[in-house]
Amino acid sequence: MAISDFDLVFFGGSGDLAMRKLLPAMYSRDVCNDLPESSRIICVGRDDATQEEFLRMVENNSKPHIKDTVHEPSWTRFLQRITYVALNATDVSTYQKLIEALRDDPSLTRVYYLATPPQLFAKICDNLAATGLATPNSRVVLEKPLGRDLASAKQINLDVGKVFAESQIYRIDHYLGKETVQNLLALRFGNILFEPLWRREWISDVQITIAEKIGVGNRLGYYDNSGALRDMLQNHLLQLLCIVAMEPPTSIAPDAVRDAKLQVLRSLKRFTPTTLSQNIIRGQYRAGYIDGQQVPGYREEPDAPKSSRTETFVAMKAEIDTWRWAGVPFYLRTGKRMADRLAEIVVRFKPIPHSIFNQPTSSFQPNSLVIRLQPDEGLSMNLMAKTPGDSMRLKQAELELDFREQFKAPRMEAYERLLLDVLRGQLTLFMRGDELEAAWEWVEPILEHWEQDDSAPAPYTSGTWGPAAASALIGRDGLQWREESLPED
Ligand code: BG6
Repeated sequence: MAISDFDLVFFGGSGDLAMRKLLPAMYSRDVCNDLPESSRIICVGRDDATQEEFLRMVENNSKPHIKDTVHEPSWTRFLQRITYVALNATDVSTYQKLIEALRDDPSLTRVYYLATPPQLFAKICDNLAATGLATPNSRVVLEKPLGRDLASAKQINLDVGKVFAESQIYRIDHYLGKETVQNLLALRFGNILFEPLWRREWISDVQITIAEKIGVGNRLGYYDNSGALRDMLQNHLLQLLCIVAMEPPTSIAPDAVRDAKLQVLRSLKRFTPTTLSQNIIRGQYRAGYIDGQQVPGYREEPDAPKSSRTETFVAMKAEIDTWRWAGVPFYLRTGKRMADRLAEIVVRFKPIPHSIFNQPTSSFQPNSLVIRLQPDEGLSMNLMAKTPGDSMRLKQAELELDFREQFKAPRMEAYERLLLDVLRGQLTLFMRGDELEAAWEWVEPILEHWEQDDSAPAPYTSGTWGPAAASALIGRDGLQWREESLPED
């Protein structure tokens, strides 16, 4: 679908996200001629920089993050789209500068992208309303963190909802912009093969892992108040779980998909204090080695409180109380400073009921489907196959689908896809307000329990797969995390 002419406003326009992700994403779509000739990008920031100074900042801080070689004429054209507006987002009297920078044409799409701390959302929306900038055809994009608990998430919904209708609100979860996540929809609902097996009768367990090698970097101020549960699990992991577990939506229309995801979130089994301490492990990285380089522990990171109890790792066993999924464990895990950078979903099927071969049933690896989001995007299906030769020996073999190899098409970064969707007015890949609240409602008892519990998170050495307790969590059910079950190289 073609994009019509737009004015796109980035609040937090001189910030880290705008520089590292948003502007490079817009450039990448511009160079592919996806953006209308006269469309404009207005970067709003607090710094009192001139237009020239700001463009120099973009040159220095944004250009190095462009994924392909920069095509200089296109870069120059891209810079001409940008206008810098210095204003204090909380001071309505300074919005005149923004009014002047925007084109006064109701036929244009107008998008306000709030890449700011969430504490500013309410004030910015009020100011947009007070200055007449929140027009009925404008859209607002909200960046995470969308709250730090249920009450604050509700407050955001309420504040933004006073000014914008739900159909104008785009809540970003960048994981939904990743190619493989959308491919999961294609796999489940574009093929007849999987859906009949996609249920408790045939699936034994599901693992969802997002492992990172990086530490907290320069985000300690934010991270120490947040932790892995809020930063990754409440949003990215739960969204992946929703796509794996949802009932078939009637179409790809926004509310059809979002209703189906909401149903999953509402069916997640609530934790009680007992199940919570049995089924959730939190960890914190200690010093270790990543790619041969020594790295400090979390508490030794610059400015880290020496006794911080912030978790940099979470592993849990979740369950979904529906006919389709009752009794199927969903193991979720995420952490920083882990052995590898990896995001994957592993769907493990039940073992065969009986062996007709001269091999015990236990020597048959159950089939599994691995959906890889990162680092490379693809799918692999593990099957048992006969080894070559005159004896009937079966061994595990892999069917591999590498999306890059298969389609040979240039890939789009998550932010490119999501920005295009905002500009096209497509809401399917964005969270609805009730989804956000349902996700917080489910994690809230965990947050409360941890707040009252003064034990420290389990330590793990940087460059490993997390605390031993995480292996024990899944091991209790006679299972292993996927990397633990792979043969050594
Ligand atoms: C962000 C988190 O939402 O996702 C970061 O705030 C994390 O802490 C990042 O590093 C991971 O995203 P990706 O796309 O690199 O896996």
